[in-house]
Amino acid sequence: MQRITDGLRKEGKTIGFVATMGSIHKGHLSLVDISNSSADITVVSIFVNPTQFGTGEDYRDYPRDIKRDKDLLRRRGCSILFYPDVDSMYKKDFKTDVYVNGLSQQLCGITRKTHFKAVTTVVSKLFNIVKPNYAVFGQKDAQQAIIIRRMVNDLNYDIKIMVGPTVRERDGLAISSRNVYLTEAEREDATVIYHSLKQAALMIKNGERKSSLILQRMKSMISSKKGAKVDYIEVVETTELKPVSEIVGEVLIAVACYFGKARLIDNIIVKV
Ligand code: PAJ
Repeated sequence: MQRITDGLRKEGKTIGFVATMGSIHKGHLSLVDISNSSADITVVSIFVNPTQFGTGEDYRDYPRDIKRDKDLLRRRGCSILFYPDVDSMYKKDFKTDVYVNGLSQQLCGITRKTHFKAVTTVVSKLFNIVKPNYAVFGQKDAQQAIIIRRMVNDLNYDIKIMVGPTVRERDGLAISSRNVYLTEAEREDATVIYHSLKQAALMIKNGERKSSLILQRMKSMISSKKGAKVDYIEVVETTELKPVSEIVGEVLIAVACYFGKARLIDNIIVKV
């Protein structure tokens, strides 16, 4: 992989990169479009990274369909697919972690304690393997994008990070590889996540500035669906991801919620 991109860069080509865990959907493909709009060549990686799944999480069940993925990516203008196996990414004597302090412990990091350390470590490896000029991440995983930007700035990676908007189903549900776990009833109920975020945005637009009242309203909307189990609902500022009680400037409103065995996340950014 390194030799291929080295060669392309010597020819004066710019490389765009989209890291994925496969089970390619419209969200991933929108990132390929963004990469292609800036770079000459788009590389996509598919690697279901075992280290970022906690014990009891869905590593084994995570949907995989390489044949379908290849086809979708090729048709969307991805020229190179990087598809390593676990043993070649993590040799027996692997010992290094890349960890972004503070940010990795907020929001999803509260319950998924080692998740972001595994994400920054694997993304750091992928950056060194693919050697892109641009890398595109999705706003859907807002915390992940913020942490990766921090890592790139702190460690002087010569890579421009771009963030693409969340691609949604027609009824508002954020597209995710994990949506396949939802039963028909759960799938219907799961739209409440986006509705609650829209409601929060509306309350802010109408002048509400108290996070507690917004969170209360969101909680009651989501809890009205009996299959829903909230992990967190938070209003945070967008640099340290720390909760704010009053809404000023730019805030991230983020939700993580279980519907059956699917842990779904979504968010919006609101500026006042
Ligand atoms: P994965 O969940 O496959 O997502 C790959 C990329 O697609 C991420 O940048 C994610 O934010 C983006 N994405 C997912 N759903 C999206 C949607 N509905 N709209 C827009 N973008 C969306 O995130 C990971 O994989 C992994 O943690 C990874 C970065 C590959 C490291 O293992």
